[in-house]
Amino acid sequence: MHSKALRVPLRDGRTCSIRRATHADAAALYVLERAIVQARQGVVKHEDELPPDAAAYATDRERAGLHKTDGTAFPLLVESEDGALLGEASVLRLGYRMLRHVGVLGIGVHPAAQGLGVGRLLMQHLLEWVRSHRDTDGQRVLRVELCVRADNPRAIALYRAMGFQHEGARRAFLRADDGALVDDLLMGLLVT
Ligand SMILES: CC(C)(COP(=O)(O)OP(=O)(O)OC[C@H]1O[C@@H](n2cnc3c(N)ncnc32)[C@H](O)[C@@H]1OP(=O)(O)O)[C@@H](O)C(=O)NCCC(=O)NCCS
Repeated sequence: MHSKALRVPLRDGRTCSIRRATHADAAALYVLERAIVQARQGVVKHEDELPPDAAAYATDRERAGLHKTDGTAFPLLVESEDGALLGEASVLRLGYRMLRHVGVLGIGVHPAAQGLGVGRLLMQHLLEWVRSHRDTDGQRVLRVELCVRADNPRAIALYRAMGFQHEGARRAFLRADDGALVDDLLMGLLVT
């Protein structure tokens, strides 16, 4: 699924392509994550908390299982026509058999490409991929969940538009750059 790139129009008239992310994309994904963290919007990390280099980042992704092709991971990315990475999103399933129907979603769009529809595109294709997936024994993802800062209205609006519901909050979960304590929201989608 999605290993062949699909060409799709963006809101500014340019065309982009969407495809499955592989191990070979780790270096570009590292650059993307660094740019998102530097922009300080919607993130929970500081730049010095990222892995020290692309190789370490690739190892972390591998260890997390993000490149498994057995139905554990659904990693997607969007590129511009000239091959620049615009955004990525993934669903990673929990490991225990009792929790295997649960997938945790993460998403990030390059600061220079935000507001162009990349996030919406990633969410639509990712959820479609997850919905249509069946393991060899017929099992599948039934619940997708994510956490989002309560002060991230753009992301919250996108998730609501995709059908996610607010399920709870971890109060005072993170300390923002200005020192204020910010809640973290749990949102979930039951996949039908
Ligand atoms: C949140 C994020 C993934 C959204 O992706 P995006 O490409 O910027 O968003 P899109 O252009 O696809 O817009 C999607 C929706 O977001 C909402 N949105 C967009 N811009 C917005 C703004 N300035 N204010 C509020 N909502 C906004 C709208 O509901 C929009 O819906 P529409 O498609 O009907 O217009 C992206 O901005 C991002 O990566 N931000 C930094 C990191 C982050 O917050 N990650 C999520 C952590 S939980």
